[in-house]
Amino acid sequence: MVLPVLLPLVPAPVSVVIGEGRMPLTDPLRIIGDDAASDQLVTAIGHRTGILPVRVDEEPRPGDVVVRIDPDAAAEAYALTVGEIVELTGSANGLLHGIRTLMQLLADDGDGRWTWRRARIADAPRFAYRGVMLDVARRFFPVDEVEKVIDRIADLKFNHLHLHLSDDQGWRIHIDSWPLLSQLSSTVSATGDGRATGGGCYSKDDYRTIVSYAASRGITIVPEIDMPGHTHAIGIAYPELVEAPVMNEHLLDDAKRLGHALPEAGVPYTGWGVGHSSLRIHEKRTYEFVRDVLAELAELTPGPYLHIGGDESLGTSPADFAYFIERATGIVQELGKTPVAWHEAGAAEVAPGTVGQYWGLLAPDASHAEHTAHFVERGGRVILSPSDAAYLDMKYDHDFPLGLAWAGTVDLHRAYDWQPTALLDIPADAVAGVEAPLWTETVESLDEADQLMFPRIAAIAEIAWSTSDRTRDWNDFRERLAAQAPAWRADGIRFHPVPEIDWSDR
Ligand code: ACM
Repeated sequence: MVLPVLLPLVPAPVSVVIGEGRMPLTDPLRIIGDDAASDQLVTAIGHRTGILPVRVDEEPRPGDVVVRIDPDAAAEAYALTVGEIVELTGSANGLLHGIRTLMQLLADDGDGRWTWRRARIADAPRFAYRGVMLDVARRFFPVDEVEKVIDRIADLKFNHLHLHLSDDQGWRIHIDSWPLLSQLSSTVSATGDGRATGGGCYSKDDYRTIVSYAASRGITIVPEIDMPGHTHAIGIAYPELVEAPVMNEHLLDDAKRLGHALPEAGVPYTGWGVGHSSLRIHEKRTYEFVRDVLAELAELTPGPYLHIGGDESLGTSPADFAYFIERATGIVQELGKTPVAWHEAGAAEVAPGTVGQYWGLLAPDASHAEHTAHFVERGGRVILSPSDAAYLDMKYDHDFPLGLAWAGTVDLHRAYDWQPTALLDIPADAVAGVEAPLWTETVESLDEADQLMFPRIAAIAEIAWSTSDRTRDWNDFRERLAAQAPAWRADGIRFHPVPEIDWSDR
């Protein structure tokens, strides 16, 4: 059964009753209630309409907006009624989601007249984990740009931002006990044509700023240090920790075709090749490094997860890889955090409860499926990031100037049309949620990131948030999505205007 939403809401809420007509915003617009959420609503309305609401502490009267915590509401749940009074109740993070819904109910009727669409909505997420990943290792994003990404994803009701903080091309977080990383391993970013451009590294205060900005928007930061492969940059600061680069056929072909330099020990690497680097698996000092780095990250990170990577470790033998993953996930657990790792790590006896992140295809390769299922056998759950549907860095089509196409091209329909609980042979409740990664080999600016993220990120948001009871309806989604364009433009989001959508001017 298809239940059209009709109201311009993305992601679709669990339940919507549409009211008659629209309600004009009063001027002054009065907001009553919860401090944190009300402050964000004041900012959002002021930014969008130019009407600056006033906070009052009085009995509500028609036209007012009332925002109240409901101590009985489930995590992230909210209820919203737009009638003579706008009433929003929910858990603390539920109120933030309700504000985003309310902002999508705002309409510009022309002549500077703003109205609310009348409706009654009850809403809660399908999956507890709804993530986006930003690769800040290949292309460093300064704090203010990360905050803009946080605003963008919060508006779509995501609740995790996974920061890929280290890779062959760069190391992006200061570690007191290994101080050369921020001096020597972070000096460049990679460009789309394999050249070096400006690097960067978050100080601990930068990282704390990101964590706290994210938390105020209901978003948990998931830091990743990718190991034991993707570790070339570490060797620039600490050569004793890494093996000499090991070439593979794919990397050699790519370097030749693209005119990229090959990885060279001790020299910053800006190509696209993978699988050439490895930590030294049998050195005591390697595990001192891993423990020190993860301990400092754990101390900075209030969220439950530390991601240790584990993908594409082609320069590490399978036995060494398994040995390393077992130790590294164990260290994360000893630090009181839940380890997360890419699905290849499921070849090892990961620490019990480790979360696996699947990045294979919608039609899974048998070994990828088996490795992912192993996390579940070890008591963990799974985050789904199918690369031919949820990877935001895949090209929309072969002519699109940005992005890669190794997993195929991903148009909006493909990003929208897949079922998380049908993807792998694991119990439905083993699916923690969904994450859309943005790798940045070809991305040199936030504008370019926007073009790859938007609008496909909205499709992933709907898959992650909206209830499975609704048959996902492409045409209904297209209409609701089209209506987001004015708000995206107002926020300076350079979305790619895909031709499948009849983008609204107003
Ligand atoms: C990955 O795309 N290498 C996780």
